[in-house]
Amino acid sequence: MNELDSIVAAAHEAFARAGTPADLENAKAQFTGKSGRITELMKGMGALSVEDKKTRGAAINAAKQAIEAALGARRQALADAELEAQLQAEALDVSLPGRLREPGGLHPVSLTLERIEQIFASMGFDVADGPEVESDWHSFTSLNNPPNHPARSMQDTFYVDLQGDDGIPYNLRPHTSPMQVRYAHQHIKKHAGKATMPEIRVIAPGRTYRVDSDATHSPMFHQCEGLWLGENVSFKDLKVVFTDFCRTFFESDDLALRFRPSFFPFTEPSAEIDIQFQSGPLAGRWLEVAGSGQVHPTVVRNMGLDPERYIGFAFGMGPDRLTMLRYGVNDLRLFFEGDVRFLKQFR
Ligand code: FA5
Ligand code: MG
Repeated sequence: MNELDSIVAAAHEAFARAGTPADLENAKAQFTGKSGRITELMKGMGALSVEDKKTRGAAINAAKQAIEAALGARRQALADAELEAQLQAEALDVSLPGRLREPGGLHPVSLTLERIEQIFASMGFDVADGPEVESDWHSFTSLNNPPNHPARSMQDTFYVDLQGDDGIPYNLRPHTSPMQVRYAHQHIKKHAGKATMPEIRVIAPGRTYRVDSDATHSPMFHQCEGLWLGENVSFKDLKVVFTDFCRTFFESDDLALRFRPSFFPFTEPSAEIDIQFQSGPLAGRWLEVAGSGQVHPTVVRNMGLDPERYIGFAFGMGPDRLTMLRYGVNDLRLFFEGDVRFLKQFR
């Protein structure tokens, strides 16, 4: 074997021994680096004749090319091995069971609100939405609350750090009743120029806030206002509508309703509506689900209507309480703690 062949053979061996790209580059330096064996041979050619330079140069070049080819092959082999190792390390084990993505569902109170809307829509009621941050006028004054009424106090109502045009801070509405006057105003405006107002039949569900917290009271809760106003709407219609609603909502004729005389500044006469199941776990107990009454003449006037002509009833019920009754939940605060183990049961 001549000298060049043995250098090429040595290069093959050295490259094969190199286990990493760094080892391989070190091995390469021994042959084609600055003071590598091939480089040294090139340097030694200066003394040769022109003729010898040609043949010797061609032979050295051929050896150099052979070494570079071996180097390229080994580089590729190392790169392939590295990729293979990486693929092995990152391999997906397709036999592992996947993580279960459980189906979501509506919140139990949302289910109740949907149900309320469906039932009242079937009785011809519109569904309206209004602001949760309210003016003092809408929450209290328009509803015939005297200036010093306890509902206005900070003990009962949350206020925000922002004053209305009247200089009184806005409140987080403590009930949905401001929607009575709001809806009437919108409704009448829509029909401006007409001598008569079409009948108003609307429910307004939404969030309400009070400084309250126990098993049947939450500081944030829901109410659903109802208003039916026309030229000949009576308390009898309230009884029929609300009884019908309760029987449909609870899918039972096995319940009794009681209209218990009460007081609200915005209705006269006023009544709390209690229900009693005749059978089942809640049988025999009267439970308050709504306040109600015939809309007070002052409120009708604040709607921009003539109380001599327009008459009707309103009610404000508690969908959270209805949800408790429907599913037999004994603490209303469970609805708002966001515990998935509890909420899952209603899915
Ligand atoms: C009112 O809020 C009146 N605006 C209802 C009304 C409307 C009367 C129209 C007449 C005409 P009351 O404070 O009773 O009334 O509340 C009505 C219902 O809301 C209650 O029967 C109860 O079901 C629910 N409720 C009241 N406070 C809370 C609370 N903190 N947490 C959960 N539900 C509540
Ligand atoms: Mg009440």
